Amino acid sequence: DIARRLAALSLCLHICGCSGVQSALDPAGEEAAHVAQLFWIMVVAGGLIWLAVVSLLSYASRGKRGRLDEQAAGRLIFWCGAAIPAFLLFLLLGYALWLMPGLRPFAPANASDALTVEVTGEQFWWRVAYHDPDTDTPVLSANEIRLPAGERVEFRLKSTDVIHSFWIPALGGKMDMIPGRVSRLSLLATKTGTYRGPCAEYCGTSHALMAFTVVVMEPSEFRQWLQARAGASPGAGSEGRDLFLAHGCGACHRVAGTEADGSVGPDLSHVGSRETLGAGILPNSEGTLRDFIAHPHVIKPDSKMPAFSMLPERDIGEIAAWLKGLE
Ligand code: CUA
Repeated sequence: DIARRLAALSLCLHICGCSGVQSALDPAGEEAAHVAQLFWIMVVAGGLIWLAVVSLLSYASRGKRGRLDEQAAGRLIFWCGAAIPAFLLFLLLGYALWLMPGLRPFAPANASDALTVEVTGEQFWWRVAYHDPDTDTPVLSANEIRLPAGERVEFRLKSTDVIHSFWIPALGGKMDMIPGRVSRLSLLATKTGTYRGPCAEYCGTSHALMAFTVVVMEPSEFRQWLQARAGASPGAGSEGRDLFLAHGCGACHRVAGTEADGSVGPDLSHVGSRETLGAGILPNSEGTLRDFIAHPHVIKPDSKMPAFSMLPERDIGEIAAWLKGLE
C-alpha cells in the first residue's frame, strides 16, 4: 500500500513538472540550480507562514478563551500582522537579491575566450550561430543548440520581428529577445543530456509550436561535433539535391556545400542529424520532412514557408530523403 502511495506521489510530482527535459526543478546547470533552490526555500518559508496564520486563525475563532484586552490585541496585530511577516519577507527578498548577480552574469572576465552562441527568434523558429573563439567563421544551424558541459557559454539573443523569449528551464532563467537590441545571457550546463526550451513570450499564432532542443555534450565530443558542422555534409545521393535546387528551395534555405544559400528560413546543412523538426514539434524523419514540405501551414499555422503540395509526391520524397541524409 505504501508503495502504491509513493508511486502516486511520484506521479503527482512528475505531473507537477518536478522532473523531465523542461523542468526548472530538475536543474542541469548552475543558474537553474539557483532558481530551484530559491523556489524550494520560498515554498518552505511560505508554508511555515501559512501554518502560523492558520493556527492563529483557528485559535482566535474558538472564541471560548475570553477576549484579549485592547493592548494585547494591538500587540498581536503589530507583531504577527506586520513586524514578523515584514521581517520574513525582507529575509526572502535579501536572499533573492543575493542570488541575482549569479543569475545575470553580464560580463564575465573571460568573455572573449568563451564560446558565444547567437540565437535569433523568428516567427516561429530559432536561428543559431556558434562563434568559437578558435575559429573565424561562425557555424550556422537552427532549432537545436548543442553545448559543452562544464563550460560557461555566452548567449547573444536577438529578434527580427516581434518579442520572443529564450528559456531553457533546465539550465537557467529566461531572457526576452527584443527586436533592435541584443540581450545577453550566460549559462553553465553541468550535466550532459537532452533538454527542451520553449518560446516563453506570446509571439503569434504558432507561439506554442516554437521550441528547440538543447543537447549538452562532453566538451571534447562537442568540439568534434562543432568542427564537423563547420563543413558540408556529404549527404547521400544527388537526385534529391538536384530537385531541391530545381524547385527553388535554395532561395530561402542554405545547405553548405551546395548553391543553396538563402537566409530567409532555417539553415538546413546537417538537418538530418537534428533530433526534432519544425522547431521542436515533430520527430525528425523522412515522413515528417515530407509532411512539412507539402503542408507547412497545417503543421505550423502562419509559417512563412509556402506549401509545396503541388510538387509530384515522388519529388517531395526524394528531397526529404536527401535532407534526412544530411547528417
Ligand atoms: Cu516566439 Cu513565442
